[in-house]
Amino acid sequence: MQVDLSSSWRIGPVEIPSRIVLAPMAGVSVQAFRRQGRRFGAGLVCSEMVSCSGLEHRNERTLGYLRIASDEHPLAVQIFGSNPATMAEAARMVEDAGADLVDINFGCPVKKVTKTGAGATLLEDPARATAIVTAVADAVSVPVTVKMRRGLENGSRTCLELGPRLVEAGAASLTLHPRSAKQMYTGEADHSLTRKLAGLVDVPVVASGDITSRARAQAVLGTTGAQAVMVGRAAQGNPWAIREIAGEFAADPSRKEIVAELILFMRETVRELGERRAASFLKKFYGWYLGRGPFPRAFKQELTQLATVGEVEERLFAAAPGASFLLARLEWEHAPAAEIELELPISIYGGG
Ligand SMILES: Cc1cc2nc3c(=O)[nH]c(=O)nc-3n(C[C@H](O)[C@H](O)[C@H](O)COP(=O)(O)O)c2cc1C
Repeated sequence: MQVDLSSSWRIGPVEIPSRIVLAPMAGVSVQAFRRQGRRFGAGLVCSEMVSCSGLEHRNERTLGYLRIASDEHPLAVQIFGSNPATMAEAARMVEDAGADLVDINFGCPVKKVTKTGAGATLLEDPARATAIVTAVADAVSVPVTVKMRRGLENGSRTCLELGPRLVEAGAASLTLHPRSAKQMYTGEADHSLTRKLAGLVDVPVVASGDITSRARAQAVLGTTGAQAVMVGRAAQGNPWAIREIAGEFAADPSRKEIVAELILFMRETVRELGERRAASFLKKFYGWYLGRGPFPRAFKQELTQLATVGEVEERLFAAAPGASFLLARLEWEHAPAAEIELELPISIYGGG
């Protein structure tokens, strides 16, 4: 069955205007990334995973993840942790910050997270996993969703047993990245499991993993019964991939378009993270943006050696002089939107 990628769908009362969800990615999914994703056709965007104990201890950097711009909606903020009460309290903070959905991470395979009993570990701890979902769903009035992997070990099908129990506990949608935690990002996402999961639950299922083109998105939607696809790595430094998946303008971006988008992204990120943090955060994006385009390899490397974001901007403008006009237009059309005022330490707004 052909699903129209530009049609709307719902998670509970939340209407989502397209079938494309921008993946939560730690170290990537800042506000600039999410706003850009919405602009290029994602119907739903997600924060990176936010530590519930960081929120509990009012850690400044963690609180900074709760900054939400008014033009990002609908937006999910993802939390991770292993204690149901702490997760419930974190979910309340997420709701107060203005998120439309609270997403729970049962997929992170990174040791730092799994050794605390959080992330993918919870796939093998169904009692705790369901207790977390129940506690979070009881704590907030927005829908609660879960993102998970297939299981811990290669070949595992744990997600098929756990998924329906999570729905019973109150999950309003499930996103499945059908790789095992052990696989990390190797091998392929096995979307036959997505199909099986979608057949077992009566809430929307979102398919995550290896969605890199419109053809792939349509194939996965058409064969699995998933309501939407999630796009992750394909959108890193390449918002045009989202546009292609959405079915609009498939042409490759020009040199000046790439530079204009990158500089807009850099400026927004500096505003969000402050100059010092942004300078190191942005380095990986230079390769991602310029890697595919008509830029010499040495140019990307040169950019990563520069100390300030301002210097990088200068070099980029020199490499694509026509970008300044495009950038001015983008900044005019997409000026940063107001953020919800949070009662948080003022310094998290640092960075101007
Ligand atoms: C750098 C990076 C960071 C990620 N961080 C998160 C995260 O914070 N929460 C989460 O649920 N998944 C996270 N993921 C997994 C993605 O959301 C997605 O499920 C996975 O990358 C597969 O989709 P893809 O093939 O489209 O990239 C991350 C993936 C990458 C590559």
